[in-house]
Amino acid sequence: MIIAVDGPSGSGKSSTARGVASRLGLRFLDTGATYRAVTWSAMEHGLDLDDPAAVAERARELRLEISTDPTRQFVIADGTDVTTAIREPRISESVSKIATNLDVRKELIRRQRAVIDAAQPSGGIVVEGRDIATVVATDAELKVLLTADQDARMARRGAELAAGSVTAEQLRDQIVRRDADDATVSEFQVASDGAVTIDSTHLSLEEVIDVISRLAKEAEAAR
Ligand code: DC
Repeated sequence: MIIAVDGPSGSGKSSTARGVASRLGLRFLDTGATYRAVTWSAMEHGLDLDDPAAVAERARELRLEISTDPTRQFVIADGTDVTTAIREPRISESVSKIATNLDVRKELIRRQRAVIDAAQPSGGIVVEGRDIATVVATDAELKVLLTADQDARMARRGAELAAGSVTAEQLRDQIVRRDADDATVSEFQVASDGAVTIDSTHLSLEEVIDVISRLAKEAEAAR
């Protein structure tokens, strides 16, 4: 069983996908974390992020261990625990440069597919990202495109606002810029064949998890 959950940043897809995996006893893969880990590693090695060949080579050489336990997420890059570091603003600001590098994508998609295959004997996996239904796992039994309007997505990043690390204007700029950067890779967030679009603007996290879990059970029964 593969459940693909795609959507823009701030759509709540991470918490949603993790929640669905916990509820249904499935594994969980945050594919964004793989792009973030390569970004961290390229910066750690002092690479020029605008040098696509050097960054792609780093992606191929990186030893990456990513947890698929929805209740205990961690990412280890070349032996260093980068679980927290990959969420830092310096990574968020640069990651789209790495995510638009097609050789990096090729390498990471290969690794993501290996993780998905490895999860099948234990029942399946919920995979969260941007191009899961359209590229990474086109054979997913359930494909969800999660959307939310810009204000809702801003509100969900309210913790960053409350912490005073960014202003509302900066946050809106970041969201608009990230969407524009992400849109430069053509397969992103295009509703794929058979995908269900869920607009989470007026739904709570629990409600979205309920809807997806029900759809997953229906998809499983129909197999
Ligand atoms: O979901 P996130 O913010 O952790 O994603 C980090 C970056 O990686 C963001 O620029 C989108 C990109 N990404 C991608 O290109 N493909 C994916 N499957 C997942 C994330």
